[in-house]
Amino acid sequence: MQPQTPILIAHRGGSLEAPENTMASFRHAIEIGARYVELDVQMTRDGVPVVLHDPTLDRTTTGKGPVRDVTLADLQSVDAGSHFAPRFAGEHVPTLRDVLELCVEAGVGIVTEIKDVRLYIGMEEKVAALLGEMWTRGAENLWCISFDHAAIRKMRTLDGALPLGYLYPPGQEEFVVPDDTVQAYCPHYQSPLARPDQVQRAHELGKFVFVYTVNTAEDMLAVAEAGVDGMVSDRPTLLLSTFNR
Ligand code: G3P
Ligand code: CA
Repeated sequence: MQPQTPILIAHRGGSLEAPENTMASFRHAIEIGARYVELDVQMTRDGVPVVLHDPTLDRTTTGKGPVRDVTLADLQSVDAGSHFAPRFAGEHVPTLRDVLELCVEAGVGIVTEIKDVRLYIGMEEKVAALLGEMWTRGAENLWCISFDHAAIRKMRTLDGALPLGYLYPPGQEEFVVPDDTVQAYCPHYQSPLARPDQVQRAHELGKFVFVYTVNTAEDMLAVAEAGVDGMVSDRPTLLLSTFNR
């Protein structure tokens, strides 16, 4: 039997192909035919979940300082595209709602990573409410993952049906923990290469294994060979072509 193609996920929309976590990157992922995207969530001072990897604006925008110190209105004057290339000037830090609506409308699955949860009061509730709203609007394939496992357990109390995953840091080769909370384990891609037995163990428990962040064709094929169920890549065009998608 041929192994199934893993779920192929555009990481931050495809951060080596477009400015990460912007509407431009998610539109790009949709245009090239990606069926899943991954995104990161932080929160503004006025409590709006926004799509940004870092807790501060400095690396990927023209703004400075913690995102939790600025309002959504303040973010409108911040450019999140020109750091990548001048032609993306004018891209903003999008709200989680805007990205979810774009991807749900396109029928694209979404892996939502909640970041730095301890900096924010009520982040889990707001994200659970938004994802729940998308389910009621017919969305499929919405996942929520985090390195903060307590936050994931809280998500479970807020939504009994939402697919959830635990992220693990690079170097953590043992990632299978018998646990009823999650449907997926999400280690760094080198972990299942070092310990393919962990993938087998996860499958015995009925769990998925999604890995991050795989950026060469050689590694993509190697983790697929190790039996993983999904992988994220900053190079979604390469990811799709490697698996003839
Ligand atoms: O998909 C998981 C992966 O995104 C975790 O790492 O730092 O790129 O958010 P990071
Ligand atoms: Ca992420």
